[in-house]
Amino acid sequence: MKVIIADHAGFCFGVKRALEKVIKASASGPLETLGPLIHNPQVVAKLAESNVYSVESLDEAKTGRIVFPSHGVTNDLRELAIKKGLTVIDAACPFVTKVHKRARDLAKSGYIVVVVGDKNHSEVRGILSAAGSSALAVSSPNEVREKTWKSKVGVVAQTTQLSERFAQVVAAIAETAPEIRAFNTICYATLDRQRAALELARNVDIMFIVGGRNSANTARLYEICKQVGIPAYHVETASEISEEWVTGKKTAGVTAGASTPDWIIAEVRNKLESM
Ligand code: F3S
Repeated sequence: MKVIIADHAGFCFGVKRALEKVIKASASGPLETLGPLIHNPQVVAKLAESNVYSVESLDEAKTGRIVFPSHGVTNDLRELAIKKGLTVIDAACPFVTKVHKRARDLAKSGYIVVVVGDKNHSEVRGILSAAGSSALAVSSPNEVREKTWKSKVGVVAQTTQLSERFAQVVAAIAETAPEIRAFNTICYATLDRQRAALELARNVDIMFIVGGRNSANTARLYEICKQVGIPAYHVETASEISEEWVTGKKTAGVTAGASTPDWIIAEVRNKLESM
């Protein structure tokens, strides 16, 4: 089968930067990341082989050095780490840090901050913590239509959101809010991957979206490809691909989330080419 890889797929700037920081720091001894450094279980497992361990809470941290992941942490966790005397290695992507700043500035200027994103995602929890007590996360325009906006509203986006959804939420708030300021904080790496995935999905028989099941940006790519109306599969590794899926298909497209390493993309490509 012919296999085409999307023009933008796999590791983004922020993920590469986080990995470089951590690998460099690990040269001087073991360290821990607060939650997974990036949302890819295979990479996290490889890091563990290099003395970089993922812990679920600061109480579990034993090495004295804690890494904040690429998607950022809440203010409370940041303060707690300092209070505990831990050495902090901040691997948060600068684009995520910028959203925190936008949210903080909006809150300081009296805006109710709306974060377009998944409220259970760690990046969104971090942004909310910077955005004041009235801030809220929404994931669809319907959620904001249920509300009556009496004061001015500031809107930011989880860096990995769909642009379309961000625009829909902003439009829905604008229907009733007395004033609205919106910052499209979706990062360029996400936009590049989304555009490239859409373009590729329109020109192939089947799409494979490669990345961690816990990766928000991979989930968005899957959503985009599914909307095109061709068969689309989200897989973490090549071993999940079934022969039946590709029966009768001539060309497969492959895209991958921003936290998917090249070696996993290559394995998927090789498997599909051999089918
Ligand atoms: Fe940063 Fe965007 Fe990647 S926020 S970690 S460059 S997906």
